[in-house]
Amino acid sequence: MNGGGPEWDETHITKYFFPTEQIPRVSCTDPLADELISQEKPVVLTDTKLCDSALKWDLDYLAENMGNERYMVFVSKNNKFKYYDEAKMRVYKANFVPPTKRVDMTFQEFVKKLREWKPGDERAYLQQGLNNTFGHAIVLDFLQFNWQWLNVQQKKHKWGPLTSNLLLVGMEGNITPVHYDEQQNFFCQLVGYKRCILFAPEHYERLYPHPVYHPHDRQAQVDFDAPNFEKFPGLDKLEGWETVIGPGEVLYIPMYWWHHIESLRDLSHTVSVNFWYKGGPTESITYPLKPRQKLAVMRNVEKMLLEALKDPAEVGPLLRSLVLGRYTGDESLGE
Ligand code: OGA
Ligand code: ZN
Repeated sequence: MNGGGPEWDETHITKYFFPTEQIPRVSCTDPLADELISQEKPVVLTDTKLCDSALKWDLDYLAENMGNERYMVFVSKNNKFKYYDEAKMRVYKANFVPPTKRVDMTFQEFVKKLREWKPGDERAYLQQGLNNTFGHAIVLDFLQFNWQWLNVQQKKHKWGPLTSNLLLVGMEGNITPVHYDEQQNFFCQLVGYKRCILFAPEHYERLYPHPVYHPHDRQAQVDFDAPNFEKFPGLDKLEGWETVIGPGEVLYIPMYWWHHIESLRDLSHTVSVNFWYKGGPTESITYPLKPRQKLAVMRNVEKMLLEALKDPAEVGPLLRSLVLGRYTGDESLGE
């Protein structure tokens, strides 16, 4: 099992219905690290020193140094925090009930909520982009991140610019359900342990994402705690990669890779910060297309249909009449 120090407890690892392999864990000086990142495969880097200056960002330190702004906090009646896009909520006409509530609060209010929490209470998850309203001490810690290592990575792998750093402060047991992002991510764990389960982009067909115009765009419709194999038969073939990351470790989550992240139950809270980078310039296209390129094609088709039809409710029926009986069997082979 894992070595010395405060540890996570293996009995707290929920067994899901799909098999997983362990994500490789390597030193950032190991050539395998570079190789995996260039191939857009996940890897845990154990010694980047990326955020050593932030390993002290526990609740007390953050409460003292964050500043007095209100930060973005999501509140959930259960342990899941499924992301939704507020802008898409305004376009999407059908009834949509957000599964969590956004309640902006000061860090002090947030900490009070965490400390007074008892089973049955609603849970909270702070997810706030780092910005210059943060206190001086936090800004200094930020400036001491290992920017040199990051810049080398960005150049080597031809990524675009860093777009944001999200600070995530969660309660033990919080879960971010499976979804993908359209950016490269160095996910840096600061306090507590997180279990991260990843799936390659080709699992698109097995995770059934919501339509692109839906507020839950990029989120899978499937619920790992209550998988519906009849509605989502591809779930049967789902296979993942997983790991547990702790303080000082960095998980590379490649663009378009599905990820499910849970805060383990061994400390009262977890703190992480991520580094989101735009992908590189479009590489020269070679055939057959890579799974993530096909995924991008599908996203564009969906977007185009909505643009042409204007009403999200018309996209499904049009797609069905396009496909059913025409592309659902051998007909598509022109036989
Ligand atoms: C991410 C992400 C969720 C979490 O960094 O892309 O989905 O709970 N994080 O840490
Ligand atoms: Zn994500």
